[in-house]
Amino acid sequence: MTPGVRPLIAGNWKMHGSMAEAEALAGAVRDGAAGLPADLLVCPAFLHVAAVARLLGGGAVAVGAQDCHAAAKGAHTGDVSAPMLRDAGATHVILGHSERRADHGETDAVVRAKAEAAAAAGLVPIVCVGETEAERLAGQAEAVVERQLAGSLPEGFAGVVAYEPVWAIGTGRTPTEADIGAIHAVIRARLAARFGAAGQGMRILYGGSMKPGNAAAILALPNVDGGLVGGASLVAADFLAIAKAAG
Ligand code: 13P
Repeated sequence: MTPGVRPLIAGNWKMHGSMAEAEALAGAVRDGAAGLPADLLVCPAFLHVAAVARLLGGGAVAVGAQDCHAAAKGAHTGDVSAPMLRDAGATHVILGHSERRADHGETDAVVRAKAEAAAAAGLVPIVCVGETEAERLAGQAEAVVERQLAGSLPEGFAGVVAYEPVWAIGTGRTPTEADIGAIHAVIRARLAARFGAAGQGMRILYGGSMKPGNAAAILALPNVDGGLVGGASLVAADFLAIAKAAG
């Protein structure tokens, strides 16, 4: 944790669930949200954003999307713009997740353009960075994260950074606490160097196999200001337990 920074626990629901399941999950998170020591955010699939936002009604649990296009509007079949997400009730958007970098060839430059579009539409961008297992084994983890930060964050960035080592996502494996702390310290140093006081207070989330059982130890580390939770966010009790562990 960073002194004076309230943790953010964000659920990335990825491509899971029916409309009814998304609404039920959102309702269960809302019903357990009172008095937790963290801000809560849920990020359903595009199709479910409006319904979940309507259900949560601007209350304690915020709603985000998992991507947006870099343009505000235009001939981009199948895409969704940041203003559309804002209009649907979203306040945040995850950008540059490793699954999008891998599945859709998103480069740092693309992520940067999307982060600019999100900010212009009034959304808080959550920009993801993280090394592959091969990069870590080659001793390149810090260099990869620094390169992704330099390329993916626009000038005047005022969002959230999420460190998600690719090899920890959905695998049940996590870096050691020392390794998480080391990367988060590097991210903090880069943010402070580039954005000054704003960078000192910017939230840096950890993501990758975060569960109720490991959350307290990870969230207690310096410069870890919350979590970006995949699998465990699909079970309301687990997601709420992770948020409780932020206290
Ligand atoms: P898991 O928590 O399922 O490992 O996913 C992490 C993630 O990718 C969140 O964006």
